[in-house]
Amino acid sequence: MIERVTFDGPVILGAGLAGLSAALAAKTALVLSPTPLATGCSSAWAQGGMAAALAGDDSPALHAADTIAAGAGLCDPEAVELLTEQGPQAVRDLAAQGAPFDRKSGDDFVLSLEAAHSRARVARVGGDGAGAAIMAAVIATVRATPAIEIRENARARRLLQDVTGRVVGVLAEIDGALVEIRAKAVILATGGVGGLYAVTTTPAEVRGEGLGLAALAGATIADPEFVQFHPTAIDIGRDPAPLATEALRGEGSILRNRDRRAFMADYHPAKELAPRDVVARAIHAERAAGRGAFLDATEAVGAHFPHEFPAVFEACQSAGIDPRREMIPVTPAVHYHMGGVATDLDGRASLPGLYAAGECASTGVQGANRLASNSLLEAAVFGTRAGRAAAAEGVEGGQPLSLEPLPDLPDAALQILRKAMSRDAGVVRDAAGLARLLGQIEALEPAYGPCPTVVAARLIVEAALARRESRGGHFRADFPATAEPARTFVTWESADAAVRYAAE
Ligand code: SIN
Repeated sequence: MIERVTFDGPVILGAGLAGLSAALAAKTALVLSPTPLATGCSSAWAQGGMAAALAGDDSPALHAADTIAAGAGLCDPEAVELLTEQGPQAVRDLAAQGAPFDRKSGDDFVLSLEAAHSRARVARVGGDGAGAAIMAAVIATVRATPAIEIRENARARRLLQDVTGRVVGVLAEIDGALVEIRAKAVILATGGVGGLYAVTTTPAEVRGEGLGLAALAGATIADPEFVQFHPTAIDIGRDPAPLATEALRGEGSILRNRDRRAFMADYHPAKELAPRDVVARAIHAERAAGRGAFLDATEAVGAHFPHEFPAVFEACQSAGIDPRREMIPVTPAVHYHMGGVATDLDGRASLPGLYAAGECASTGVQGANRLASNSLLEAAVFGTRAGRAAAAEGVEGGQPLSLEPLPDLPDAALQILRKAMSRDAGVVRDAAGLARLLGQIEALEPAYGPCPTVVAARLIVEAALARRESRGGHFRADFPATAEPARTFVTWESADAAVRYAAE
């Protein structure tokens, strides 16, 4: 017997910055978090900070132009304009909640330069601790808001839909028990897809579940092939891999190979500050050629490392590396998913009653390649908008058609999938590798069928196979040229596998 509750306000899946911003905007909300708050979400791990036109020599228009240039032809200009216009206020709102952004004398923000930004515009906290500090402030606000209910150790096992397809709630597993939660709106804020890959900078729990749940419900998914690889994860055999923030390169740190040769000039005139995808491919190429890749911060940061970049320093020290004197071994790692559940500017997905915000959404802001430190900003701005819109949903919806939990992928199978995804849907892709990977995913389907994780992987791989060009985060060795810009919009029904589950 499944317990049933009806909630008067949106149910939000995920408790990163997007989910909690949505909850605060909705005022009354139920937030389901698979892990204790501030753990298991990428927001809390963000190092660089939040990009916004806060400096006197900057403007939202310049920030928008950089965002669109990085997005390699696929950004939605209207979404970008909204994001960049609201950027400064979003930072100030978080500061007002207690996020302790680094300040100069007076009230001005300390702003870091990161790759592909034409201005120093990343508001930071304690050097490399922005995500944790922002999340601590927002969590304190949420905890002080009685109408926001938080359930930890709670995850979605299916979106509930009535006969019209409207999303009418969620089947959740809370402390091991299934609960049918009925609500007028569900907001997906489940994060990205890093945990689908063997090498990632994101928490292991983040593995495309929102994407898979939405796709299985019939929602339109946009641009799933666009996965961003952060160039400089620290290569010390840890899973997930710790990040060496891009701000280190903004400070002048140099990428070198094992012979200490600075190699970025071979790849792009902007060298270390080239767009993220370019730097990731350069590091991939150096490593593939056996030359290795290292970040040398000994000159640029040197003795200031422990207090300027404490999180990176601590990660290096844990592996016996002293970045004040030694080069840091680096590798590209999955860091962000530009694709996601297609939404409008208020977070509305294509199914009535369903919303998405943050990394699991595709608002059109991130294009084919996200500009550094635009992710926390998107989470705050579009999370707030989704929360407001979802709170205004007035339709009750009918009875859910199915209360059957979707299958899970056991850990052993997940680990095999992660390795295969890193090998064949990684920084450099080609038809042979993607087809082999699709075969491996198909082999999982008879046993695990419509498992959201497998569905998310399949969407990425099918779209990567279909996109016969290279652009932003998607590079095809067999199609290195860039074609006319066109976004991908797919539904699960339009994917080959749909027929397999039609009888379900
Ligand atoms: C970084 O600090 O390099 C990551 C920031 C981001 O992902 O935008």
